[in-house]
Amino acid sequence: MRTIPDLRVSFAGIELKNPVIAASGTFAYGIEFEDVVHLDRLGGFVVKGLSREPMIGNPPPRLYETAAGMLNSIGLQNIGARAFIDEKLPKLRALKDIVVVANVFGYTREDYEHTIQILNEGEGIAAYELNVSCPNTQHGGIQFGSDPRTLDEVVTTAKRFSQRPLIVKLSPNVTSIGQMAHVAQEAGADAISLVNTFVAMSIDVDTRKPRIANVTAGLSGPAIRPIAVRMVYEASKSVQIPVIGMGGISTAADVIEFMLAGASAVQVGTASYWDPRASEKIVGELGRWCSEHEVQRIAELTGGMQG
Ligand SMILES: Cc1cc2nc3c(=O)[nH]c(=O)nc-3n(C[C@H](O)[C@H](O)[C@H](O)COP(=O)(O)O)c2cc1C
Repeated sequence: MRTIPDLRVSFAGIELKNPVIAASGTFAYGIEFEDVVHLDRLGGFVVKGLSREPMIGNPPPRLYETAAGMLNSIGLQNIGARAFIDEKLPKLRALKDIVVVANVFGYTREDYEHTIQILNEGEGIAAYELNVSCPNTQHGGIQFGSDPRTLDEVVTTAKRFSQRPLIVKLSPNVTSIGQMAHVAQEAGADAISLVNTFVAMSIDVDTRKPRIANVTAGLSGPAIRPIAVRMVYEASKSVQIPVIGMGGISTAADVIEFMLAGASAVQVGTASYWDPRASEKIVGELGRWCSEHEVQRIAELTGGMQG
């Protein structure tokens, strides 16, 4: 008789019923998906990036579908940390058995500090995910996550103020992802997640105009998956803390691939744009995949690539 596979995973002291987490920016504040998705079937979800003050984001067009992927330049539109705590969190708290991660970003170290202090007041957040892919206005616009020194500074600051486990979400737009992963770990990260989107652009050759008003945008979706798998592999080799992998996941096999490369859990982003129920469907598929492949404990697959 076949036993039911155990899909549970854990990282940074957080227990998940399965490794599938809906990714930031593609799942609103979670509650908006309540009528479409059984939120309690997901391992968890990460809410849209939150800042100290509300932000209106970039002008349209902000999205463009590419071959096997998507360009976006939403510009981190969000309702602000305070409104999240007052308006969204109470509704999320009313739901049972869900894991909510708050994604945080800023343009200065103080921004991160203040946003985290506001969020510390809210009940029902399992962890913070620090988005370091924003330009640091105090360092001439260089991304926090593309310079080891600024990455160290922002993670050290966030860790000092955070009352919850800290996941540092790395930018893939760097020369050595292993080095950045190591810097995040040494600065106090409890886990790292990767990858965020790749800086990219597209031009409409008829109008000769950029497809995205902001000109450059972030590329996500299946097009980036093999690069993301390589980066998760390299990052996991250079740290001892858990790694959460993402980039183009749309099937159970994709989840397994990231886990074999070293991920303890994964996130699903762009696939939710094509099908809002993608994450939940992947959870169902994952159970079947494990049964068929006689995997009893999915957590054992982490880092299990055969040399
Ligand atoms: C429309 C859109 C908005 C996003 N917003 C955020 C965000 O607010 N914070 C963040 O850390 N990542 C954000 N991301 C990045 C995703 O969370 C994820 O890292 C990336 O898209 C790669 O995964 P995927 O290929 O499964 O989408 C966004 C991605 C998309 C497509």
